[in-house]
Amino acid sequence: MSLPPLMSSAKPKALAGDNLPLFTPTQRIELEGYSRKARSNGSSSTLAELLRRVEEAQVGDEAPSTPSSHVLQMTSLASSSVSAPAAYPFALSFKNLTYSVNVPRKLSFSSLLGREKSSDGAGLPGRAGTKVLLNDISGEAREGEIMAVLGASGSGKSTLIDALADRISKESLGGAIMLNGEVLESRLLKVISAYVMQDDLLFPMLTVEETLMFSAEFRLPRSLSKSRKKARVQVLIDQLGLRNAAGTVIGDEGHRGVSGGERRRVSIGIDIIHDPIILFLDEPTSGLDSTSAFMVVKVLQRIAQSGSIVVMSIHQPSYRIMSLLDRLIFLSRGNTVFNGSPADLPKFFAEFGHPIPEHENRTEFVLDLIRELEETPGGTKSIVEFNKSWEAKQQSLGLRNGDITWTGPKPSLKDAISASVSRGKLVSGGSAGDSNQVVLVPTFANPFWMEMLVISKRSMTNSRRMPELFGIRFGAVMVTGIILATMFRHLDNSPKGVQERLGFFAFAMSTTFYTCAEAIPVFLQDRYIFMRETAYNAYRRYSYVLAHAIISVPSLVILSLAFAATTFWPVGLAGGFSGFMFFFYAVFAAFWAGSSFVTFLSGVVSHVMLGFTIVVAILAYFLLFSGFFISRNRIPPYWIWFHYLSLVKYPYESVLQNEFDDPAKCFVRGVQMFDNTPLAVVPEALKLRMLKNMGSTLGMNLTGSTCVTTGVDILRTQGITDISKWDCLWITIAWGFFFRVLFYFTLLYGSKNKRK
Ligand SMILES: Nc1ncnc2c1ncn2[C@@H]1O[C@H](COP(=O)(O)OP(=O)(O)O)[C@@H](O)[C@H]1O
Ligand SMILES: [Mg+2]
Repeated sequence: MSLPPLMSSAKPKALAGDNLPLFTPTQRIELEGYSRKARSNGSSSTLAELLRRVEEAQVGDEAPSTPSSHVLQMTSLASSSVSAPAAYPFALSFKNLTYSVNVPRKLSFSSLLGREKSSDGAGLPGRAGTKVLLNDISGEAREGEIMAVLGASGSGKSTLIDALADRISKESLGGAIMLNGEVLESRLLKVISAYVMQDDLLFPMLTVEETLMFSAEFRLPRSLSKSRKKARVQVLIDQLGLRNAAGTVIGDEGHRGVSGGERRRVSIGIDIIHDPIILFLDEPTSGLDSTSAFMVVKVLQRIAQSGSIVVMSIHQPSYRIMSLLDRLIFLSRGNTVFNGSPADLPKFFAEFGHPIPEHENRTEFVLDLIRELEETPGGTKSIVEFNKSWEAKQQSLGLRNGDITWTGPKPSLKDAISASVSRGKLVSGGSAGDSNQVVLVPTFANPFWMEMLVISKRSMTNSRRMPELFGIRFGAVMVTGIILATMFRHLDNSPKGVQERLGFFAFAMSTTFYTCAEAIPVFLQDRYIFMRETAYNAYRRYSYVLAHAIISVPSLVILSLAFAATTFWPVGLAGGFSGFMFFFYAVFAAFWAGSSFVTFLSGVVSHVMLGFTIVVAILAYFLLFSGFFISRNRIPPYWIWFHYLSLVKYPYESVLQNEFDDPAKCFVRGVQMFDNTPLAVVPEALKLRMLKNMGSTLGMNLTGSTCVTTGVDILRTQGITDISKWDCLWITIAWGFFFRVLFYFTLLYGSKNKRK
């Protein structure tokens, strides 16, 4: 993917020079929400409380304002943090991080003989069955700087970033992570940090500007007016260097969209919309050409300089990117090989006895050296040990520029955060707390109905621009409807007609479910975006589930109306207009239950093909047990439970009752009794004689036109006697709700986003 010439040549220069503030110097942010929260809880140690204090200090300098609408004067971040560094820079330090996982023992021949080797061969200390992914890693990342984690693939870069970003459960992670010397609670970290995933999960048909605007609507508090959010998005677009692409759609395989580098910057943008204090990124540059990669890191440098800590992993930085990095950690199989500034690299390796040649790319040299050492019998042990002593020496000499020189007394972490907020950081609120939590700020920026509104709006905007998605479903339903209408045209009320009617209903009700399966890929794509967004509290999970359900209804109404209208009259179904309406309701209920079922499945399975396979198999079983192939009273007792679980049973029975519940309607008359029997070929006159004889035997008058089977009889022989047609309809709809609830729980427990 190549960048347009404008982006690759002119833009980096323009970007390199300026230092755009996140907010323009005169911009004000209203923090009414905070002040109200602060008043309602009396605790003095909450972030909200701190915010209020900041606020009051600020307000004191200004004209008096009403307590309900405090206004915070935002200073320019660029001037406060770049030209004159913040008085108390943030420092994220981590000590002796250790993390290992249990590797399931392979059942090999040697292990059966008890001759298993005690190590997995990775050259790491560890018991048999455990693999050390991080081994005693220490370091520090500071505000205004980019800390880069480097190493070959598999060296533990992602693991280290996950550990720092609190994506590894506390029990299994050894060591300590501290911000400004205070232990960092995960709740607080969630508020002040952001994690940018390796993949770009974005809605393909939204423009760059819209994507960022939706993110602003999710993440920024409602107390911030729409124009403020718009202003924030505009500032961010400039900061990310996306001005030229602002109106372009993101795009996907089928639609031309923004370039890969731009897409990556949008991904970063949606996570930093609330201006976090700490930003974690896992390989933000991989898959990009060198210019795009440089631009991404340049953007990160600018974010760092606006008062943030940026921690990222990078596979192999170019020379130009290296010049933007302030601090490096080289990893090899979970061990630190080098930890220091890029300027220290030549000295370090010279002292280690492997000086870096004059004109060689330093990172390439180091990575090659590490790989060479890894292949030697001693592994990287020598350099790991050397690094330990080197770091200790640097520290004792006071040469490490990592030591913080505080100007004035060192403030508490809370004060530092609150001071940072007053400079414009953390536009959004924070994380919720139980009553005993230290930090008490709202978990979500907006109430749930707002979230639902924004989710629905975004989803509708996206699908409106991809009309083919709905078009395909509509086409499939119409084609099925037309085929059925022409196949089963004008069914009569003979015994054969009854059989055909039963077949029509069974097929019609199961195809509604099958056409729902087409939505699986869309749901799966949505789900990854959902996981990314809920991981950092963009919105509540149930808002998503509700919005998802509500926006599906209009399209389901259209689909069921189209299907009912194309089949009801051509097939010649009973009941007139009211019969049609009920048929429509039943089809709608089936669509609703089917789409809920498929939605639920898409929350359980993670792969498209697996999803299709499971849906098709389960729907086939539903049809098998629906009562069409074997009526309820003939299903073996040990399978009867599945009959009641069958989603097809309920809509199928409801439409059958709608069709056959007229007791005055006759389906088998006199001589028609002999249809479907060996006597069907007997001449008509003979049949009439046999009827007469049978009548006299039974003691009743049987003629050629006597009704022997009514619709009610058919229902009885089909075993459809247990539930009324309206109850069937309600049960079908209830199934739909049931699967939506299940969907909620799969999202709740299935997207924990944390390693064990
Ligand atoms: N759950 C796990 N079980 C076993 N090995 C794992 C597990 N997770 C990661 N690893 C291994 O840990 C090493 C480091 O992984 P990772 O941090 O993703 O590397 P990087 O990001 O540097 O490419 C790899 O060798 C990987 O195979
Ligand atoms: Mg990785």
